[in-house]
Parts: sequence; C-alpha cells; structure tokens
Amino acid sequence: MKFFIDTANVEEIKMANDMGVICGVTTNPSLIAKEGRDYAETLAEIASIVDGPISGEVKATTADAEGMIAEGRAIYALDPKHMVVKIPMTVEGLKAIKVLAAEGIPTNCTLIFSANQALLAARAGAAYVSPFLGRLDDISMPGIDLIQTISDMFANFPDIHTEIIAASVRNPIHVTDCALAGADIATVPYKVIEQMTKHPLTDQGIEKFKADYIKVFGE
Ligand code: E4P
Repeated sequence: MKFFIDTANVEEIKMANDMGVICGVTTNPSLIAKEGRDYAETLAEIASIVDGPISGEVKATTADAEGMIAEGRAIYALDPKHMVVKIPMTVEGLKAIKVLAAEGIPTNCTLIFSANQALLAARAGAAYVSPFLGRLDDISMPGIDLIQTISDMFANFPDIHTEIIAASVRNPIHVTDCALAGADIATVPYKVIEQMTKHPLTDQGIEKFKADYIKVFGE
C-alpha cells in the first residue's frame, strides 16, 4: 500500500514529502477552503511540490456533467503531469468521468460508500476510487468492510485497473487495516502520519542509548 497525504496545507505537504513516505496528495473543497487561499493557485503549488498524482476536486457548486467536464479540464490544465480530477459519485459524475477518461484525463471518483458505486466508477473509467472509511465508522457502519469488499470485488476482474484510495482515514489502526484489506493507497492526514511514527519503546530506547553513551563518552 502506498501513501498519499490528505490535506491542502502546503507546509504539511512539504514535511510529509521530505520524509519520503508520500507519493501523492488528495484535496477536497473543504480542505482547500480551510486554507483560505485561491483554489487553482493552491492546487498548482501542491503539484509543484509532490511529483505524483494530485487530486483536485471539482467545486461543490457544480452538479451537472458539462460543468464538471469544463472544470475538470481546467484543473488538469494546471499541471497535466500531476493533476487528477476528483469527481463525486453521481450519475452526472459518471458521465463526466467517461468523457474525461476518453480525453486521457485521470479521475478519482470520490464519496464512495458502497461497493456498487466503486464498480460503476471503475467501469466509467475512473483511475481511482475513494471509499470513505471514517465517515462510515462515524455512523456505526464498519468502514473497513467496504475497503475489503471493493478489494475482493476488483480482484475478480483482471480488466479493472482502477486503484483503491482508502480515504477518510482517521487513525493509525485504520492505516494497518486498510493495508491488510488490500487498499492500493491510503490518503492520510499529516497528524496520522506523525502518530504512525510514534512508539513509547522507541522514545525509551533513544533515551537509554543517549544516557549510556553520555555515561562513558560524555556529551
Ligand atoms: C478523501 O479524499 C477526502 O479528502 C477525505 O479523506 C475525507 O476525510 P474526512 O472524512 O476525514 O473529512
């Protein structure tokens, strides 16, 4: 399983990129709005930092296929080497995915909450599907079961090359579970990446090595 970072904060993106653990970025309208900056400018800057797929979502105010196609082309044009157009799972969204895919524009079908939605998105030509694990957990439905089901389902059809991005990842246990369930990618907030680096025995070990060294060799 590979890692993307799920944020529009360029400082967090730079820190994760410097660690060498991420190979892509996902954003959404809420994450970009939180930064309070220009939408396109933010995406273009992110694409200049990480040399991998950068998901930029069509604006939440666009619901028809024509509008999503026009926006999708504009997002892709920001940086054709990196940009992936994120499209919500609706009938209109599927139509937009089909048109953009035919033009060679990669798409990430977002807001996936069922295996059938993922299968439809794959058949429409989405390069990625984003099932939202945490938001299912929030309503007492085990989100990890969805990741496992989509993974099992796609494995039945070798002609499906759509990658599964486990999204709405909220904690390190989600990450381990996603890797075991067969997600191709987990998109993870910076805070969770940081939590994943931690273990109390690591901290204790560093302190002990330091103390033993200083005892014999001094500062
Ligand atoms: C996915 O691409 C979304 O940007 C994100 O993972 C949603 O996470 P949330 O449910 O924590 O807002």
